[in-house]
Amino acid sequence: MCGIIGYTGASQALPILVHGIHTLSYRGYDSAGVSIFRDGALIVRKDKGRIGDLAPTWSRIELAGTCGIGHTRWATHGEPSQKNAHPQVDASEGVALVHNGILENDIALREGLEAEGVVFASDTDTEVFAHLFSRNFDGDPIAAARVLLEKCHGHFALAIQHHLMPDTLIAVRRGSPLLVGLGVGENLVASDVLALVGRAYHTIEMADEQIAVVTPESATVYDKHGNEVEVERKPLDASELTVGKEGFPHYMLKEIHEQPERLYELITARMDLQHDHVRLDDLGLDDDAWRSIERVDLIGCGTAHYACFYGAYVLEALAGIPTRALQAHEYDARLPVIDDKTLVIAVSQSGETADTKVAVDLAVSQGARTIGVLNVRESFIGRAVDGVLDIHAGREVGVASTKAYTSMLTALLLLTLRAAEARGRGDEIVGRLGRAMRGIPQAIRQVMLSSELIGEVAREIHRANNMLFLGRGADATTALEGALKMKEISYIHAEGYAAGEMKHGPIALVSWEVPTVAIATAGPWRDRMIGNMREIRAREGLVIAVAADDDDDAPKVADFVLPVPTVDPWIAPIVNVVPLQLLAYETAKRRGCDIDQPRNLAKTVTVQ
Ligand code: AGP
Repeated sequence: MCGIIGYTGASQALPILVHGIHTLSYRGYDSAGVSIFRDGALIVRKDKGRIGDLAPTWSRIELAGTCGIGHTRWATHGEPSQKNAHPQVDASEGVALVHNGILENDIALREGLEAEGVVFASDTDTEVFAHLFSRNFDGDPIAAARVLLEKCHGHFALAIQHHLMPDTLIAVRRGSPLLVGLGVGENLVASDVLALVGRAYHTIEMADEQIAVVTPESATVYDKHGNEVEVERKPLDASELTVGKEGFPHYMLKEIHEQPERLYELITARMDLQHDHVRLDDLGLDDDAWRSIERVDLIGCGTAHYACFYGAYVLEALAGIPTRALQAHEYDARLPVIDDKTLVIAVSQSGETADTKVAVDLAVSQGARTIGVLNVRESFIGRAVDGVLDIHAGREVGVASTKAYTSMLTALLLLTLRAAEARGRGDEIVGRLGRAMRGIPQAIRQVMLSSELIGEVAREIHRANNMLFLGRGADATTALEGALKMKEISYIHAEGYAAGEMKHGPIALVSWEVPTVAIATAGPWRDRMIGNMREIRAREGLVIAVAADDDDDAPKVADFVLPVPTVDPWIAPIVNVVPLQLLAYETAKRRGCDIDQPRNLAKTVTVQ
């Protein structure tokens, strides 16, 4: 999941490329580079590190030019280093190329090229593309690009420059996102429309197996046979795309605080309380379709996978549909039994996660109905499924997902209520939970009032190296997600467990050096959680309880209590995760970590 930007026009390319790389750095940021055409040659500057540190070292004089490509990298083949940074060049340095994705047959191709005398300068798969393009270029960029599509296996998006075509960008797409941005007297290519805002007025979303030849005055798209194809030129609406921190120190904190209003909008848009009905008819599933479903497979990765866990609890318990929550990257390995009675629900904030897309492709190929619970409707997964439930969280910039997670849970609960209604289980459930859901935004606002207390707890635990997060029932999911937040941004090794698991091994980890967060809010699992906390305290473990604000027992068995308002136990996971989001944030802040762009991570994982 790297970021690609290319520009050709009348302006100096360097500042435009640097801005684009900054904008795309959510896709990976361990190294960056640019190539700019100048005086008959391609000038390349690249190195390990972040664009904010690298760009000031690049000379605007040396890199003066109006056509160039840029890249920000998340390393897959070859460690972050100057030689492995993009752009990669061919032996003559007459071709410069940036790449997002994975070349799956890079070893065979590299060996073939080495046998022909090519000497490689990097450890990357990307360099293979540069040599192949160069060795097959005889003045026709489309013919050379077609060779890449023919010989190269895997998912990739490429932007290429050739020194004999000074103002031309060549773009090639298979599997990884790539757009052409159309401006006035200038055109661009990019991995994400965000990088085109402010320059392009229209965009062309390239399809798989397509080649684009882009100059300041034209953008022509070809299929893999070299035939020109008609493409849609969509107006670029920047209003929804440009987000700032709005006074918050970090995007993550802003997005945590956005949750009440985002969930209010989602719930009120979908919950018709006058008729105890959930408005999800745009999904293409009527009552008969819901009744015909015999099993649901929820698939996702990371936080989205934990949302799937929650979805499995509520769909089975409340709608009576046998449901599994599966890691998308393990779906094909299971050789799942899928048919037209199976509903596969892909949960994804970005809609671009390669692992989840591959799992969707498997489900579609085997005849399952498919739905996407997504934050980006116009995405790879959004285009592959039968229907999309937009979680309406708004653009999420922080790499650690927060508002998207609570929106996923809420969307999955709404989906459950719709299924329950269709399957004759709606009478009591839809009305009760529908009304209870209306209280979620206020309950989350209530949690925010404990920010100072959460800061005190963070001060107490921020030097820990290990932590445990425990919950039961639907809140076992909250424990997993709370641990992931802590891992991702504070780099503390945090494990999330269903609390019943403790006696079967993990309790060996308990010591005064290992703080334990226990989610013990009102509900069928609370008393057993109080018991877990007692067991931990008996072994000198430090306990941080997430408990009802009127729970008198919790302070007796915990060193700290993070109070939350009491809500229906099936809704509690949507509220209970918020103090854990804030605890991870406050802890990471005290550890001096990069909260919005944690090390080694990327916001969207577009490679398997
Ligand atoms: C969440 O905090 C992580 N950044 C990561 O686990 C993420 O949830 C996962 O990569 C899935 O992303 P998606 O929701 O865009 O598919």
